[in-house]
Amino acid sequence: MKPLVCALAKGRLADAAVDLFGRAGELKGGIRAEIKKKSRRLIFSDEDSDISFFMAKASDVPTYVDYGAADIGVAGKDALLEGRRNLYEVLDLGIGVCRMVVAGPESARELARRGNNLRVATKYPRTAIDYFARQKQRSVEIIMLNGSVELAPMVGLADVIVDIVETGGTLRENGLAVFEEITPISARLVVNRASMKIEHARIVELIKNIEAVLKKG
Ligand code: PRP
Repeated sequence: MKPLVCALAKGRLADAAVDLFGRAGELKGGIRAEIKKKSRRLIFSDEDSDISFFMAKASDVPTYVDYGAADIGVAGKDALLEGRRNLYEVLDLGIGVCRMVVAGPESARELARRGNNLRVATKYPRTAIDYFARQKQRSVEIIMLNGSVELAPMVGLADVIVDIVETGGTLRENGLAVFEEITPISARLVVNRASMKIEHARIVELIKNIEAVLKKG
């Protein structure tokens, strides 16, 4: 049987996802241990296992699944909202829980509440435009960054940021505060549309196995 291919987001989500697949009985052979070694290896497969994994950048997981390079994937809701890919989002996995927020220095709180032409730095331009322009009818200037977004208001590049907050540590350590919550975020199991038809029985079984683990808590 050809193994199912699963795209995982390298980094903090990969370990939690691998644990979940393990508890669901979906990991055989040495794959779990190999992934946990945190090497620079990108593809993990094993003769005994009917599922193989690859590690992608978190924001790219929906792309790999949309194009069918992976049958399934574990993607953050942030990446799904931003990527707007044509996928089946089948399960909320309850891992990678965080919030998408508007944040900034206290000195920008009033401006963030009322001011127009707010300068917003973010890794999530579509999500930020959707929130400010469509939902709040506010005119904003979006400044697209690729990481360490918290830096932007501190060095005068932007008034506020739109970013994900997990522990709040990065905001706190940089003197920034949450102004508004845009949406809660967590990791989702996503499935390629063609794979859902071709590998239907196998994928439904996998979803059931993971669901059983989630119910146990
Ligand atoms: C994410 C996010 C924040 C940070 C929040 O960045 O963009 O910067 O984590 O986490 P915390 O609330 O637990 O501090 P990531 O670590 O993915 O790195 P990046 O900024 O380089 O994208």
